[in-house]
Parts: sequence; C-alpha cells; structure tokens
Amino acid sequence: MAHNYKKLAILGHPVQHSKSPLIHKYWIKKYGLDGQYDAVDSPPDTLERTLRRCLKEDYNGFNVTLPHKHSIRSYCDFFDTTSHEIGAVNTLHLKDHKLYGSNTDAYGFSKNLEMSHPDFEWGAGPAVVLGAGGAARAVAYALKDKNVPVIKICNRTLSKAGNIVADMGGSVMPWEERTEAIKECNLLINTTLLGMEGQSLLEMPLETLPSHATVYDIVYAPLITPLLQEAQARGNPIVTGIGMLLYQAQQAFKTWYGIVPEVDNLLIQKVLA
Ligand SMILES: NC(=O)c1ccc[n+]([C@@H]2O[C@H](COP(=O)([O-])OP(=O)(O)OC[C@H]3O[C@@H](n4cnc5c(N)ncnc54)[C@H](OP(=O)(O)O)[C@@H]3O)[C@@H](O)[C@H]2O)c1
Repeated sequence: MAHNYKKLAILGHPVQHSKSPLIHKYWIKKYGLDGQYDAVDSPPDTLERTLRRCLKEDYNGFNVTLPHKHSIRSYCDFFDTTSHEIGAVNTLHLKDHKLYGSNTDAYGFSKNLEMSHPDFEWGAGPAVVLGAGGAARAVAYALKDKNVPVIKICNRTLSKAGNIVADMGGSVMPWEERTEAIKECNLLINTTLLGMEGQSLLEMPLETLPSHATVYDIVYAPLITPLLQEAQARGNPIVTGIGMLLYQAQQAFKTWYGIVPEVDNLLIQKVLA
C-alpha cells in the first residue's frame, strides 16, 4: 500500500443509500490521490466490534451517520470543540493510534448558505429553526457560532427544542405558533424531515414572513422542496440542502487528506442524479 494511501469508510445503519462514497471517491479520483472509500453497515449492537475490526484492517478515517453519531463518541480518544458542543460526531480520523472525533455538519450548513448568498448577513435579524432533531443541533450551533442575535427553535416535541436551547441558547417556540415565530425573521430553516420524498408535507404558511427573509431547507430530496417552491414564488431568497451535504464532506476530506476539494458542478450533478 502506498505511504499516503487512505482507507476510509462511512459507518452507519443503513448505509446503502448514502451519497458519501460517491462524493469522496469523486474527489480521490479528481485529485489523483491514493485511497478507497467504502460503506460499512453496522447495526447499533455491533458498532464496537465493527469499529475494532475496521481499525485492525488499517482504516484511517470514517464518516459516521445515523444512528451512530452520538454513540460513537464513547470510542473516541479526543473530540474537537464543535462535536463536543453539538454532542455528535460525524467524522473520525486516526492519528498516532488515537481516534479523533469531529463534526463538520455545522460547517456544511453555514458554508452552503455563504456560498449560495455571499451577501447574507447573519447578524441582520432572528433565525427560526423548524425541528429539534440531530440536524437541528448542528444548525443551532452554527447559528450561535455566527452570532445570530435571536434564535427560535420551533418543534412538535417541545422538550427536544428545550434541550437544544439549554445547550446552545435561544428560545423555544411551540410548533403551533410557527406562523407567529417567523414574523421579523431574517432566516427560516427547515430541519424536520417534512417535505422529503416519501414523507408528509411541511405545513408552513409564509404570509407572515418578511420578503427579505432567506428560506433554507436542509432536505435535499427533492432539491426544491414545496417550502422552497413557495418561498421562491413570493420572491424570498432560497438555499437548498444539497450544499450542506457537500460542504460537510469537503471539511471531512480536508481532515483526512489535508486539501480542500472543490464542490464543482459535475459533482453536484452526480449527487443529484
Ligand atoms: N442536507 C444535509 O446535509 C442534511 C444533514 C442532516 C440531515 N438532513 C435531513 O434533515 C432531516 C432531519 O434529519 P435529523 O437527523 O435531524 O432527523 P431526526 O433527528 O429524526 O429529527 C426529525 C425532526 O423532524 C420532526 N418531525 C418529524 N415528523 C414530524 C411531523 N409529522 N410534524 C412535525 N415535526 C416532525 C421531529 O419532531 P419531533 O422532535 O417532535 O419528533 C424532529 O424535530 C432529514 O430529512 C435529513 O435527511 C440533511
């Protein structure tokens, strides 16, 4: 094996639909690097055994996806601050026989918005987050990191929104009050799975949303969700979710190879195909 050969994988359950192998294999080829990227399926009860086996087989790094983003932390020797505060790890790399955990989802979230709308001002007004699941934690962390002045977390299960607010700040809004919550908002983000292919629609009337507010849906299948369609029709700037996936991958790739790979149009087309 070449000295710089990287043996990488995504670890999750299920993993067969993951786009990560496609993305990282594309960059390994594009930059002429030595390495492989596999999909390793591991149910929760065999996670430790699977991880130990992979380390014995000289894997150097992993992406971690559902349902392991939280539990994988107990096998890490070190965490970065971001993954510690979010409470989830989505990237692992092995250095000097130690396992380092990091989280690139928050980076992917904000980088995607900044690439889509370079003039966007994080400090210009409140942000409303719909949902309080795993992805919402990373989004709330990113908003706090960008010094967004007011963060409102609006979720069906109020206690889950409360947990995020306890860790990241902001305030809780009942799901039924979401139309009220978006008045004066500068950024509206959907982090629920509503609007995703095969899921129910997100019922989010936008009449009360200011015309300048940016609407961001982290769901990317379909790319233009019904929420984004409605926002677009009334002239609000929109951000699709595919870039969040690609930029979190970009940061993970940098962790392993030390280079920042380009999110180019051909890659976007391949991921959306
Ligand atoms: N673009 C990207 O890179 C990226 C990254 C991560 C995730 N995602 C997408 O983000 C979505 C959420 O992922 P996740 O990991 O955060 O999932 P999760 O932890 O399961 O959270 C799901 C969220 O959706 C809410 N929800 C589900 N059904 C609902 C309903 N009928 N009415 C109201 N709220 C409902 C849940 O509310 P309760 O708390 O009340 O159950 C919860 O807030 C998925 O579609 C995923 O594909 C995209």
